[in-house]
Amino acid sequence: ALALALPPPAHTNATAQRLPGAIIIGVRKGGTRALLEMLNLHPDVEVAKAEVHYFNLDENYRRGLSWYRAQMPFTLPGQLTVEKTPGYFSAPLVPERMWEMNPAVRLLLIVRDPAERLVSDYTQVLHNRLQRHKPYQSLEELLLLDHDGNGNGRGGGRIDPGYKALQRSLYHVHFQRWLEHFPRQQIHVVDGEALVRDPYPELRKAERFLELPPRIMPSNFYFNATKGFYCLISAGHDKCLDESKGRPHAPLSQRTFHKLCHFLQEPNKRFFNLVGRTFPWC
Ligand code: A3P
Repeated sequence: ALALALPPPAHTNATAQRLPGAIIIGVRKGGTRALLEMLNLHPDVEVAKAEVHYFNLDENYRRGLSWYRAQMPFTLPGQLTVEKTPGYFSAPLVPERMWEMNPAVRLLLIVRDPAERLVSDYTQVLHNRLQRHKPYQSLEELLLLDHDGNGNGRGGGRIDPGYKALQRSLYHVHFQRWLEHFPRQQIHVVDGEALVRDPYPELRKAERFLELPPRIMPSNFYFNATKGFYCLISAGHDKCLDESKGRPHAPLSQRTFHKLCHFLQEPNKRFFNLVGRTFPWC
């Protein structure tokens, strides 16, 4: 009876699962895991470790906000909850649904050369299929119409605009949809290639956007020559992303890669106009 009369320990009082104040919405293969893990270095940030897929999958969305909240980490008041689901960026209903949850939610979009992104996207699907002993097609078979093995064919070996991974690389199409619901300033665009080259400056910009005090330091990162990427140091522990991040890409002929770059020139320009900056993409 005496124990019942005592107040609960302070931590059970203070920590709770809260809806995210910021969401990494994509792009798939843009460096979303790296960005999430790096933001998590900040003492005022807690992240949902697994991708949540709430707004983009109807079966999850139907479960409602209480389900969504239950996927979040425990936080103290004043801490920022962040989740990442790269599939959000290109899923049509997501911007509107997110706005309905919280019109003030801060959005982070990490982009990368969309031609490289496509090859990385294909490589991921290929690995998944190989793991499950499923048949697969070469990237050229998927990317080119009437492919004959040399990048030529009855369709002239033209790029197939219907290829799903290509559509996910048409950033302007998706970004436009986000702008129909959120003001431009509410979407912070992270340069994925810059994050690979030198994470710290991109993290500093993200902190500023999230109105967090600057706590992530250059000493939180070190270049791991074996992995060929920066890894993280936090509380004396170092951590690299797993081997599915930064792995060799599936082969693609130079000729087809050039075709892809040519195809993406116009879409990229449109994206630059929408975001108000350019990127040195192919
Ligand atoms: P590649 O495997 O094509 O090189 P996502 O987490 O969105 O799936 O993105 C994966 C990509 O993150 C990788 O693509 C890799 O280039 C990039 N990346 C950025 N910073 C990284 C880091 N520090 N370690 C490993 N991969 C990183």
